[in-house]
Amino acid sequence: MAEIERPGAQQWVPAGAGIAELRVAASGCRGCELWEPATQVVFSAGTASARLVLVGEQPGDQEDRQGTPFVGPAGQLLARAVDAAGIARSEVYVTNAVKHFRFTERGKRRLHEKPGIAHIDACRPWLHAELDVVQPRVVVCLGATAGRSVLGREVKIGAERGRILGGEGAAVLITAHPSSLLRMQEPADRDAAFDALVADLRTAAAAAAQGAAE
Ligand code: URA
Ligand code: SF4
Repeated sequence: MAEIERPGAQQWVPAGAGIAELRVAASGCRGCELWEPATQVVFSAGTASARLVLVGEQPGDQEDRQGTPFVGPAGQLLARAVDAAGIARSEVYVTNAVKHFRFTERGKRRLHEKPGIAHIDACRPWLHAELDVVQPRVVVCLGATAGRSVLGREVKIGAERGRILGGEGAAVLITAHPSSLLRMQEPADRDAAFDALVADLRTAAAAAAQGAAE
């Protein structure tokens, strides 16, 4: 197989840029091959002054079409969890570890394909630039891909979720990805997983509020 060239996003990230400028610049990113089959880059949503940042995996089919993160089924579930945790949506900044939709085509359908470690690494400069601008109190990693991007190592959701992990910058909290709930067949499992997600979001919000009072 031919070697795929992945220079990484860094050379496309303008220094000292705010979120609006980063968003525009990301549309020209060629840091990995995922830009090409995708419809558009999906950058972020929410306020740049947020204390709480939620990091997902990558845009899905709907997000790729609309250009906004978390607008599809996983996003609707996440919005319900954020509401249930008592967090105002206007107080969070939502983004993804990887900014272009990775998929395989099956007839007319586009099936989500997990980003590889190389894609996470290639795209990480965007996330770092966002975190530099927003400077949140707490970064919530929704799933293992976000955890890998933020912490730079493999994370095990089951073992590490729900605790505030210290760090030199923002505190980090790992939790499940909302789409893992959508894959559950049993309503009881789904409900329990939803409650666990809400509890983790509450923990993160409380830590963000506490940090802000110091
Ligand atoms: N899943 C994600 O991780 N991010 C999105 O934006 C949508 C679905
Ligand atoms: Fe650039 Fe990230 Fe898109 Fe790859 S996925 S082209 S690194 S923005």
